[in-house]
Amino acid sequence: MDMIPVFKPSYDDEELEALREPFSSGWIGLGPKTHEFEKQFARFIGTKYAVGLNSGTAALHLAMQVMGVSGGEVITTPITFVSTNHAILYNHAAPVFADVEADTLNIDPLEIEKLITKNTKAIVVVHYGGHACLMSAIMDLARKHRLKVIEDCAHACGGSYNGQPSGSIGDIGCFSFHAVKNLACGEGGMITVNDEGLDTQLRSLRWLGITKDTWDRAKTKNYSWFYNVEEVGYKAHMNDIPAALGLVQLKKLDRLNERRRQIVKQYNMAFSAAAWITIPVEKSYTRSASHNYVIKLEQRDKFVQYMADKGISTGVHYYPNHLYPVYKPYYRKLPVAESIWQKIVTLPLFPDLTPSQIDYIIETVLAFSQKI
Ligand SMILES: Cc1ncc(COP(=O)(O)O)c(C=O)c1O
Repeated sequence: MDMIPVFKPSYDDEELEALREPFSSGWIGLGPKTHEFEKQFARFIGTKYAVGLNSGTAALHLAMQVMGVSGGEVITTPITFVSTNHAILYNHAAPVFADVEADTLNIDPLEIEKLITKNTKAIVVVHYGGHACLMSAIMDLARKHRLKVIEDCAHACGGSYNGQPSGSIGDIGCFSFHAVKNLACGEGGMITVNDEGLDTQLRSLRWLGITKDTWDRAKTKNYSWFYNVEEVGYKAHMNDIPAALGLVQLKKLDRLNERRRQIVKQYNMAFSAAAWITIPVEKSYTRSASHNYVIKLEQRDKFVQYMADKGISTGVHYYPNHLYPVYKPYYRKLPVAESIWQKIVTLPLFPDLTPSQIDYIIETVLAFSQKI
């Protein structure tokens, strides 16, 4: 029996067809497809600029660098993929973990406020599962204390807060196009930003500190060999293969996210009558990108094993980061995160789930009640 995966990208012939162009032109590095994808992505999010990168992790790393967090403190969430918090450490800053809201699993603005000190430089928010954080409260705090806000939109591509696209609200937005994200390119990332100076700085940082990219140099009649290097940057730029995929995926994104929402609705309807399951919430201020479907229940580990025995993969997103050994120096007691993570489990959610797979998942989940 093939296991039903938790996540799966949605591809068809259109993506395969789109790959022909970079392959036949021979331009598979940073080139015209990357530039076109950046242009269209910025338009989609509603920012002036978008900078293509080779991962969401690189996006967070560079975003924090240009936000100037080095040597300071960054208030962050424990319920995230470790990239969010590693990016703070890459920048020689200290993560200060704030507790989360029990229902959304997003960083709690009331907890953020308690942690602001004279060393705080920034707040990084993760729109968990695509459900936007309470951005009005967070932006108010940031303005009052002159802090930068970095949005980790790895789950939130196509989601919004009070009608404003995630990634256009804070000072800088970071996206991931990893294989299982709503917009999937295998690997890839993007930064969205409105400030021209930051855009220029990021373009240099993503390519070793070189101030002109290869495509810019190729556009001039006589390919200019000269470039300047003004700082130590990284090898972190996107290339034209993921960008070609990204252009097709971007076109489909609203439709794919709508399919995710339909499946969420179907799950919610089926599980809402089961008192032993807490279904996910969608607050009135957000339209979630529905990246994942996370329920809460007792005996989570037994449930995970039971589902696996029935051919259904599940996940736990996430083990609270502040409990990992690498974050020990930054440990603070976080009562909500430390209790809630033991109950969370992620069920399969992706656009190509078939109606019969959805029925089977629902049936199987509900039948677990006989085991408890
Ligand atoms: C919340 C969050 N932030 C950052 C990342 C890092 O993205 P990438 O895998 O593209 O480096 C991920 C990806 O899994 C994520 O889920």
